[in-house]
Amino acid sequence: MDMKVEVIICSGTLCYLMGGAELQLLSEHLPPALKDKVIVKGSPCVGFCDKPESGKPPFALINGRKIQQASVDKLISEIKQELGI
Ligand code: FES
Repeated sequence: MDMKVEVIICSGTLCYLMGGAELQLLSEHLPPALKDKVIVKGSPCVGFCDKPESGKPPFALINGRKIQQASVDKLISEIKQELGI
């Protein structure tokens, strides 16, 4: 089955300033084995930054699951987990 993982990266101001800028480059950092299995999208503020209980920015969503304090490495390992590899 051709399963794809959808990654949404928050590019709202707070997330962007708190490290989200590097996340915008996620596609370029994906290992070759993951490249065609991942869809990366940007999004305006995903609505977590004004809720302290949501965790710390930058935020991203992987198949709808919230990732806080996202980094390129963290997203890659979450993507692998999602794909079961
Ligand atoms: S700016 Fe990212 S959740 Fe609001």
